[in-house]
Amino acid sequence: PSARTNYAIANWKMNKTFSEMAVYLQELKSKEGVSVVICPPSQLLYPAGLMAKQQGSTVSIGAQNVHEADKGAYTGEVSASMLKDIGCAYVIIGHSERRQYFNENDQQVNQKIKQAIKEGLTPIICIGETIEQKNSGQTEKVLTTQLVGALQDIDSDFILAYEPVWAIGTGESATAEQAQSTHAYIRKVLTALLGGRAEGISILYGGSVNDKNAAEFSQMPDIDGVLVGGASLNAESFEKIIAVF
Ligand code: G3P
Repeated sequence: PSARTNYAIANWKMNKTFSEMAVYLQELKSKEGVSVVICPPSQLLYPAGLMAKQQGSTVSIGAQNVHEADKGAYTGEVSASMLKDIGCAYVIIGHSERRQYFNENDQQVNQKIKQAIKEGLTPIICIGETIEQKNSGQTEKVLTTQLVGALQDIDSDFILAYEPVWAIGTGESATAEQAQSTHAYIRKVLTALLGGRAEGISILYGGSVNDKNAAEFSQMPDIDGVLVGGASLNAESFEKIIAVF
């Protein structure tokens, strides 16, 4: 674990019913010194927050997406103020699945970040390269473009998540060394963009993190936590991941 705030964030994606969520929250124990955030699908945000509160749990609740407008005629969308209103503290922005299946671009990501910050939500900004980009040696260029685009005129705090697209849901995570060197690069870019403030920004790794490999990531100086998909769906596995930070 680093001196920065360490996070274990669960991205449930489009998984879990109300009753599954209730059982999970009852089972999950958090740990002092690690900020634990659960990001359920949107219909569970409010009850999850309520339940966590009732249980006296320190777990925070985050959304998986937000719309970039204040409000209005955007059928099916949810605004940052609505998320704040029901007790969310965090929101994932720019996940590669949103970029890939919903064509989100860096400009939209930037708008969403601004909207989240305006309403007092902490954005969890996701960046990462595809396998084609990796194989053609473009990783650094892609990450820099995503960072510069996302962070245009942003001067509030955020969390960054490096999720190489080729490692998401594939069972093939980056090695801890690979992730560390990319995180160090990302921090260099952040320093160029934000100056000394970059030192305080938590950079999380995501992509096939599980209860076996989490400990290796936690040893690395520039890895300040993890963003977990599949392995976060089981309370026991996620608890083991939390435990190493
Ligand atoms: O946001 C977390 C995610 O994309 C990683 O998914 O299933 O590879 O842990 P997974």
